[in-house]
Amino acid sequence: MALTQTPAGRSAAGDPLDVAALKADFPLLGVRVHDQRIVYLDSAASSQKPNAVLDTMDWYYRNINANVHRGVYAIAEEATRRMEVARDRVRHFINAPSVDEIVFTKNATEACNLVAQSWGRANLGEGDAVLLTHMEHHANIVPWQILAAERGFEIRWIPLTPDGQLDLTDLEQLLRGVKLLGVTAMSNVLGTINPVRRLTDAARAAGAVSLIDACQYVPHLPTDVVELGADFVAFSGHKMLGPTGIGVLWGRRELLDAMPPFLGGGEMIRDVTVNGFTPNDLPWKFEAGTPPIAEILGLGAAVDYLEALGMAAVRAHEIELTAYALETLNGRFGDGITIYGPTDATARGGVLSFAFQGLHPHDISQVLDEHAVCVRAGHHCAKPLMRVLGVGATARASVYLYNDEADIDALADALAATADFFLP
Ligand SMILES: Cc1ncc(COP(=O)(O)O)c(C=O)c1O
Repeated sequence: MALTQTPAGRSAAGDPLDVAALKADFPLLGVRVHDQRIVYLDSAASSQKPNAVLDTMDWYYRNINANVHRGVYAIAEEATRRMEVARDRVRHFINAPSVDEIVFTKNATEACNLVAQSWGRANLGEGDAVLLTHMEHHANIVPWQILAAERGFEIRWIPLTPDGQLDLTDLEQLLRGVKLLGVTAMSNVLGTINPVRRLTDAARAAGAVSLIDACQYVPHLPTDVVELGADFVAFSGHKMLGPTGIGVLWGRRELLDAMPPFLGGGEMIRDVTVNGFTPNDLPWKFEAGTPPIAEILGLGAAVDYLEALGMAAVRAHEIELTAYALETLNGRFGDGITIYGPTDATARGGVLSFAFQGLHPHDISQVLDEHAVCVRAGHHCAKPLMRVLGVGATARASVYLYNDEADIDALADALAATADFFLP
């Protein structure tokens, strides 16, 4: 069976995206909801999957389904080989120096917990501090709170400016005595793209390591972990066209080498006796138990798909579409809509959280659904940020490479219908 690895309707990586052709690669975008064309604007929660990913996972189960790093028969060896090839594709996608530094996890949340429970447990205690920001997702907050309750270290916070940027005025002072800086590369609520290099440089100068939550960044911008200057980078496969159940922790080899295992069991050991164990080499030291093999191959196919498009082209498309969305929504609804975060599309990703006509986000989302427009309503796993914004929840529309201006127009029309419904 031949695998479809390249996007339809493309000429060469880097060309402007041909969204009409791309849409045909995503079966779900052909689904009709309430007898209407689905308008999927919730990719910040989870992206849709192209045929290349779906076919790869199906092909694995139909042709080479066997456990990895165990069997010495043909299909087991082929499954193992393809899993390690996928790991190298991910390495290349983020320009990591070594494939040994690519640790597969369940998702970004598990990747952050791995850093907290392994690096944090070995390095943090009373008198130490961890520095986070007010725009972090719970995935990069709660693991530190759990550990702080046990170890008694302090958690500090970088505040925000009124336009939704990090307020770095007191950065040097905040970093004093800090051992780890945890920061999102792009906010899943505000869309803000943070100055990661400036932050990682400042952290290093203060003697701290940095954990970058790149869950909303890796799917949307060209990513170079060396250029970001980070020590750890976490992201999830399901937000970048891949399946659920697979995430990645990249870490600098010296740090990963020195860290104790996170979970114990099969695969993560070199030897076990009744008296103890010796851990396996990187990256398997952190991959206890049977890995999500089909999901890893699916992530590899997702990375191939994105690389065939070219991440610069993906980013250019999203800037254009975000600018169109900001202009359309602000132009059409004026004071009736508040879109949080930076107003300049080049300073943000395509995540548009908004308040609309004083309506509750869940009411908005429910009426939008009647128009087959899918948006998220809620606190977006960023409750400290909701408190800073002074709201309990927001509605959030988020775009990806398969969205176009017609999707934004459909959102605007459905919002107008929502206002008519509630405020006749
Ligand atoms: C910025 C950010 N970090 C972390 C996560 C957690 O991702 P996952 O639920 O895949 O672990 C998300 C998911 O919404 C996110 O947007």
